Amino acid sequence: MDTRQGQRGAGPRANVVLVGFMGTGKSTAGRALARRLRLRFVDTDAWITAEAGMPIPELFQRFGEQAFRDLETECARFVAGLRGVVVSTGGGILGRAANLELLRSTGRLVCLTARPEVILARTAPWESRPMLRTAANPRDAVERLLAERQPLYDQADLVVDTSDLTTEQVVSEICERLPYL
Ligand code: S3P
Repeated sequence: MDTRQGQRGAGPRANVVLVGFMGTGKSTAGRALARRLRLRFVDTDAWITAEAGMPIPELFQRFGEQAFRDLETECARFVAGLRGVVVSTGGGILGRAANLELLRSTGRLVCLTARPEVILARTAPWESRPMLRTAANPRDAVERLLAERQPLYDQADLVVDTSDLTTEQVVSEICERLPYL
């Protein structure tokens, strides 16, 4: 018997779920990882955009952050029903404990990180990032949100700092360090 099958979120059919702050490269690395592993790719922000029928900044503006977060939980539930997929998530998805439980129930969590200055450079001018574009000082907002979310990101099975890595290097590191891929 393969004992790995009994572990929570483990086994060859586990999903690989990329979590982490905005600008850490989750969508790019997720798409490339799925290609390398020949697995289906799901991007929670793209799923929400399709479901809502509008871009995320418009969703925030017209219906508020909570409406976005509700759709995020719906997407986490959808993803938890899948097996063997690579998932990229929005940076705030672990803010609800239910989402963490859902994503962990069938997946391994990989947290991508980057230095604050790298995050700022990659996300500027923040037009598509409602959590940053309305902030008086985006750098302060990044630092405050990072500190607030750190305990959530610490729940991941694996952490990869993408600050100085290419997408292919990020993918290789995940494949090397995540067992049973
Ligand atoms: C958010 C991050 C965004 C998107 C939304 C909210 C956040 O995704 O889900 O704007 O709260 O950090 P990315 O992490 O892909 O930028």
